[in-house]
Amino acid sequence: MSRASAITNIGSLVTNDPDAGEGPLGVIPEAALVMMSGRIVWTGPMADLQPADESFDAQGHAIVPGFVDSHAHPVFAGDRADEFAARMKGEAYQAGGIHRTVRLTREATNEVLDRTLQRLSAEFARQGITTFEAKSGYGLTVHDEQRCLQLAQQATEETTFLGAHVVPMEFAHDPDGYVRLVCEDMLQACAPHARWIDVFCDRGAFDADQARHVLQAGLQAGLWPRVHANQLQPGPGVQLAVEVGAASADHCTYLSAEDVDALATGHTVATLLPGAEFSTRSPYPDARRLLDAGATVALATDCNPGSSYTTSMSLCIALAVREMHMTPDEAVWAATLGGAKALRRTDVGHLGIGSRADLVELDAPNHLHLSYRPGVDLINRVWVAGDMAWSRPEGYEVDGLDGSAE
Ligand code: NIG
Ligand code: FE
Repeated sequence: MSRASAITNIGSLVTNDPDAGEGPLGVIPEAALVMMSGRIVWTGPMADLQPADESFDAQGHAIVPGFVDSHAHPVFAGDRADEFAARMKGEAYQAGGIHRTVRLTREATNEVLDRTLQRLSAEFARQGITTFEAKSGYGLTVHDEQRCLQLAQQATEETTFLGAHVVPMEFAHDPDGYVRLVCEDMLQACAPHARWIDVFCDRGAFDADQARHVLQAGLQAGLWPRVHANQLQPGPGVQLAVEVGAASADHCTYLSAEDVDALATGHTVATLLPGAEFSTRSPYPDARRLLDAGATVALATDCNPGSSYTTSMSLCIALAVREMHMTPDEAVWAATLGGAKALRRTDVGHLGIGSRADLVELDAPNHLHLSYRPGVDLINRVWVAGDMAWSRPEGYEVDGLDGSAE
């Protein structure tokens, strides 16, 4: 018999189900919830809670859906802290830095790659990220892309083949030959281990024709497209993403009016990655313009050793609010249900009845604190599919709130 677990005395519960509570976030004040067999089976006012088999007291803290990180590159070796330091002295970010990580990744054993992946998976959980995507893209040979995806597959179901990240050095004089390799032997070796195909369509990477070729080959092999688009300059990436029906166009830093219109009218989510603009000292994308036009916006970490070495969705939320003119509510939605939409998932990113019981207890009375208290660790406890995946170590537990937000 399945056991019913309740979370009681929730100061404020964000369900992302407008039918369950107030506003687009479906907020229920002074709430409780019940989980069973890894799913949410009930949410409502604390006063209406029926007895459960076990219960966890939230002591007035807020509960939000687990963050859904729809864009990350956690399979790599080494780091590039020196490049970050050089950028902070005025150097520009270039796609070419990727080659350094490719060299180290090729040299690394599976054990070394897996250790980093495990460390980052634990970091994601500890930061309240309960679903994350993992791209290949630092192997760039048939063997190395395949083994990176095999490792990624052990850590998440959202794996993405990014053989078309950049043209590797050994193909510098034959980029079309590399595109052929990606579309043929590499794709064949990688498709069984991936759900998605991605391409970096930008300066220093792939042009629109090459990118279209890669995405169409991926579609033929049963992979769904997503695109690194318009990160470094205006370009064709966003239009291509919408044209091929990609789930998401990611970065969206330099957009024309036509790009905004295409995202607003199509079914492609605009995934914004403010960690990349922070770490490359680049202009932030204009989230307000996208939201006002009616586009669906997601926030993701872009965790990678070059342009955004962070696993903190809380940082991304704070940057989105402060620098990209999202409201605190919009940013929380984008980091949860927005991310789920960018991965075409209906079971995560919200706490509607039947959803996977992925949730985060904040050390705060409500979700506004995620952007109101930047840089502060507000993650108290994390549940994945109804099981507690992380809680503060003994001795660091926080006291209950006094119940007053006034
Ligand atoms: O999403 N833009 C392309 N790929 C990564 C950066 C990769 C790197 O610099 O290592 C990104 O920002
Ligand atoms: Fe990326």
